[in-house]
Amino acid sequence: MTKFRLESADAVSETLMIPLHARALEQQQPEPLVRDPIAAEIVERIDYPWHRIRVNRHDLAAMMVRLREVDRMARAFLAEHPAATVVHIGCGLDARFQRLDNGQVRWFDLDLPEVIALRRHVLPESERDRYLGCSVFDPQWMDAVDAAGAGPFLFLAEAVLTYFDESQVKGLVIGLQRRFPGAEVVTDGATPLTVRLDNWHLAFTGSAARIRWGLTDPRDVEAWSPGIRLLESFYYFEQPEPRLGLLRWWRHVPAISRGSGIHHYRLT
Ligand SMILES: C[S@@+](CC[C@H](N)C(=O)[O-])C[C@H]1O[C@@H](n2cnc3c(N)ncnc32)[C@H](O)[C@@H]1O
Repeated sequence: MTKFRLESADAVSETLMIPLHARALEQQQPEPLVRDPIAAEIVERIDYPWHRIRVNRHDLAAMMVRLREVDRMARAFLAEHPAATVVHIGCGLDARFQRLDNGQVRWFDLDLPEVIALRRHVLPESERDRYLGCSVFDPQWMDAVDAAGAGPFLFLAEAVLTYFDESQVKGLVIGLQRRFPGAEVVTDGATPLTVRLDNWHLAFTGSAARIRWGLTDPRDVEAWSPGIRLLESFYYFEQPEPRLGLLRWWRHVPAISRGSGIHHYRLT
């Protein structure tokens, strides 16, 4: 079988291998938190030193809870708007379209060109799942989405915006609000303390990537522009997912239990 590589990727792009590896590992659990049979097939087709990725069972559970919750928020949106357009920002090699496809949604998977080049080899593009190989900060992709998509719009950004400065994230969110009024955005966010802890963790896993955007309170985003509303927040450690094991004790420490979450906004 021909194996493919991620060519000339930067440290942030290479981080996509961690959740991909985790999704594949999860399928070996008796009751996977997220069912994603394609992940293991993709891992098989990529030439990568997988043994270098260190994911302990609690990290695995936390990553799967994040994945499950972003999927849940997207499914709820699609239940209300089945023919919506979804843009999956920093999609990596996640088969989210395949997990959530309702037969009507129009989907765009967006990532840097080298990632999209690899994605095309292992997960082919289709009529309703178009690929956009460019930076999310290059506004040209919005033209393609505007021309081909029909509202309402949902933008999903899992484990991507945190790698950038707040000024970049703010510019993007305000750009989306102007271009796609009424759109909704789901992203994960971490407080400055959790950013520091996550960076130690990234260093431990051997990644050179570092997280930068610290969000003290998810409502702070509302102050970026009138019309931005926080609809929902999900916090990992406040939820009793048994597989989080000892990590669940963090729910007694507010600075940590609310340190990392998934936030859902509407941009009107
Ligand atoms: C930690 S990975 C997450 C991948 C995917 N969301 C998942 O959970 O499997 C971060 C992703 O963000 C992408 N990324 C980094 N910078 C980007 C940019 N400027 N524009 C679009 N995507 C970017 C990387 O290439 C990588 O695929």
